[in-house]
Amino acid sequence: MYYIGYMNLLLCAGLQSVCDATQDAVCYGALGGPVHLQLMRNTTGHELNFKNEKNTIFRIRTNGKLAPKPPSQRWEVVAGNGTLIINPAESTDSGTYRLEISGSDGIIKHHTVQLMVEAPVSDVDLSISCSANGERKAWCSSNGDSPQYSWSLDGRALSGADADLSTDNQTVLLKGNVIGQLTCTVSNHISTTSISRVLFCSGQLL
Ligand SMILES: *[C@@H]1O[C@H](CO)[C@@H](O)[C@H](O)[C@H]1NC(C)=O
Ligand SMILES: *[C@@H]1O[C@H](CO)[C@@H](O)[C@H](O)[C@H]1NC(C)=O
Ligand SMILES: *[C@@H]1O[C@H](CO)[C@@H](O)[C@H](O)[C@H]1NC(C)=O
Repeated sequence: MYYIGYMNLLLCAGLQSVCDATQDAVCYGALGGPVHLQLMRNTTGHELNFKNEKNTIFRIRTNGKLAPKPPSQRWEVVAGNGTLIINPAESTDSGTYRLEISGSDGIIKHHTVQLMVEAPVSDVDLSISCSANGERKAWCSSNGDSPQYSWSLDGRALSGADADLSTDNQTVLLKGNVIGQLTCTVSNHISTTSISRVLFCSGQLL
């Protein structure tokens, strides 16, 4: 048996955030969204060479000019504040980038930025089945990259006294007469979505 509940969509506040890429960093971006990477803080008198494993992708010259320019229309370099804005982000933008920044003192500093573009969590579904022997099983599913599942009952974390979790955390087997509002929260690095359903059937009924 399946029960109708409601869905609560929490759009990630981090979608617009600026990733600090001024030192070695792992930055996550939402597929289709804007990704802001701050590459350096003080652009005055500095030259920045933005490379992949082999080649220079773009270079910000000391005079603020771009040569070469980024290869994609989706990549906007704001030389004045040392920011790269990718919009919309695509999975092909994911990768490991090397930055070489040289100052007026001639010293070149290197750091690495790993960019991972993830599809936000979507199509979250929570189904609860009550079998004839009174066993209740809740199953949460979703699309999106690297989803992580967590559960709560009436707003507190689900404990071992309430339920047994499967190793992937996607399925819970509810114990005894546990009732209340069950919430499944699915998150990845760039988004979070929750769905709740009221547990109607008791373990002793049906
Ligand atoms: C920025 O870099 C320039 C050149 O190296 C330097 O003269 C200036 O003081 C720096 N500004 C800040 C705020 O660090
Ligand atoms: C840099 O400038 C661009 C264009 O004005 C702006 O959209 C962006 O928010 C700025 N980023 C930072 C980190 O100041
Ligand atoms: C399952 O949840 C626990 C507790 O929140 C967490 O420590 C563990 O990493 C999760 N496992 C998976 C495969 O997501």
